[in-house]
Amino acid sequence: MEPAIPDPLATGHRRRVLITGAGGQLGHALQEAFAGETVVALGRADWDVTQPAPPLPTMPDLVLHAAAWTDVDGAEDDPQEAAAVNVGGTQHAAELGAPLVVFSTDYVFDGRKTAPYHESDAPNPLSAYGRTKLHAEAAAGGQAWIVRTSWLFGETGHNFVRTMLRLGAERDEVAVVDDQRGCPTYAGHLAAAVRELVELPFGLWHVAAGGDATWAELAEAIFEEAGLSCRVRRITSEELGRPAPRPAYSVLRSEKPEAPLLPHWREGLRACLERL
Ligand SMILES: NC(=O)c1ccc[n+]([C@@H]2O[C@H](COP(=O)([O-])OP(=O)(O)OC[C@H]3O[C@@H](n4cnc5c(N)ncnc54)[C@H](OP(=O)(O)O)[C@@H]3O)[C@@H](O)[C@H]2O)c1
Repeated sequence: MEPAIPDPLATGHRRRVLITGAGGQLGHALQEAFAGETVVALGRADWDVTQPAPPLPTMPDLVLHAAAWTDVDGAEDDPQEAAAVNVGGTQHAAELGAPLVVFSTDYVFDGRKTAPYHESDAPNPLSAYGRTKLHAEAAAGGQAWIVRTSWLFGETGHNFVRTMLRLGAERDEVAVVDDQRGCPTYAGHLAAAVRELVELPFGLWHVAAGGDATWAELAEAIFEEAGLSCRVRRITSEELGRPAPRPAYSVLRSEKPEAPLLPHWREGLRACLERL
């Protein structure tokens, strides 16, 4: 007997997937990962997420909300605007009424642990950015996968890997922070994992690369993989003196056995460099 409501995937129906923040590094990677579906990719000019969504021709089956205020230091100066984008934007994405994927961050944790952070660990953000992202998690509603990820890099946009490649080609030495440890995550690997995640139950999920590193260790790996002879001088966060405090330790792991597992960050780095 035919089911009353046909399963869209079993019937070959392509899901209508709406992606916000399509111009960002994760937005780009998601467009690639979901290229087999009917994707509507909206950049900031198409939908400023501080406002409710513009009229859409059809209701999406899935919303991937990658638009965000990601300037961690800038959020200290303008926490209201950062909240308007991160919290207000998430509320507006949830108001579409479709299953929703939102992206959160390791910066919701204070970094006092010395072992990986799991979904059940209590958040305690140190920065204005981290606070907006934690409030955004609460604004996502009950039909959402909340994906906490960390230290994203990809082929496009502003990120640490691209900055180091530029500096490494210009200089003999760069000073890089060595007292923050996290999981540098390739946006392409995360986007592929989101495809798996949307087959799993709604809720909070930690999805970050395997392994861990400090920024200085990551910089050394970038130079090694790219064949650049630039040296890394290891400094402290205090020496760098950025406005927003960051957690000293923010390695993310999932305590859910079915959670998607990402490749090691070094594999992500190689995959990214191959495409640059
Ligand atoms: N980057 C990381 O290291 C990191 C780590 C953990 C979690 N995350 C989370 O992962 C998600 C994706 O981050 P990402 O690295 O892809 O950031 P990204 O490259 O900065 O992309 C964010 C995108 O959002 C857009 N945007 C900003 N304000 C907007 C607004 N009012 N309306 C519509 N679009 C707006 C930006 O447009 P403009 O370019 O025009 O500003 C940009 O295209 C975010 O939720 C972020 O918090 C990122």
